[in-house]
Amino acid sequence: MEREAFIRRLEQVEDLPTLPSVAMEVNRLLEDEDVSIRKLTDTIEKDQSIVSKILKLVNSAFFGLRSRVDNISHAVTLLGFNTVRNAVLSVSVIKTFGGVKPGDGFSMADFWRHAVAVGITARFLGQQTRLASPDNGFIAGLLHDMGKVVLSAFFPEIFREVLQGLARGISFYEAERDTSPMDHARIGGFLARQWQLPRSLTDAIRCHHAVKQSAADYRLLLLVHAADLVSVRVRNEQEGAEALKGLHPEALKAVRSQLDNFHDWSQDLREEIDTGCRFFLEELDS
Ligand SMILES: [Fe+2]
Ligand SMILES: [Fe+2]
Repeated sequence: MEREAFIRRLEQVEDLPTLPSVAMEVNRLLEDEDVSIRKLTDTIEKDQSIVSKILKLVNSAFFGLRSRVDNISHAVTLLGFNTVRNAVLSVSVIKTFGGVKPGDGFSMADFWRHAVAVGITARFLGQQTRLASPDNGFIAGLLHDMGKVVLSAFFPEIFREVLQGLARGISFYEAERDTSPMDHARIGGFLARQWQLPRSLTDAIRCHHAVKQSAADYRLLLLVHAADLVSVRVRNEQEGAEALKGLHPEALKAVRSQLDNFHDWSQDLREEIDTGCRFFLEELDS
């Protein structure tokens, strides 16, 4: 299948995951710099299931706040618009993908574990290197591989071929390049555009394997690209050493000192990822 034909099929998938309307509205609102706290709060409060999950998230160890946040307007005052937007997005995508049935051979649990690991690694590297906002790094990491879910759920025959490639020992991305007209990064970028996410986020998802300087936020892209590979080392030293050979030179330059001190922080981050996985997968999914 050619890429154009693939895109046409993608456009025709009727049950392609959609974001809850409150998340779409919040994104739209924040395009406008003059939006008020009141307006943002009113919009989010239209969806009470989202409200309770956001409050759960911002009061969790994940945010590490000293005082308790009881309502959305307090969360916005304390954390700022962008952080609250990212919190809305985080709980929304978990809800959205909860409704998708992936194809055979795709483990949704493994997918989320990796997504949360990359999100938390990007947040950490963002804090340490100031490459991009830790908060934006987290959400980009959480979403970076979402094209894989779409590929497995809606193009099972292509996904099966990719899995056969994996069985031969090549990476997912390489296997996909051999068999799929569009790789998961581009599929994820397509979905992000459909969801009207900010371009910085769309580009970070779309280019996380093939880094492009023309990305709307090149530094955010470098951060997610690096976190994807560094997270492999956090999970498994040996596999990580291999994966990190694929690191883009500029990303390497940005995270080199963290890699040199890897053993000073990796155990703590591993624990943080475990806690994050439990929280995101069990608490927020319930
Ligand atoms: Fe990927
Ligand atoms: Fe990944």
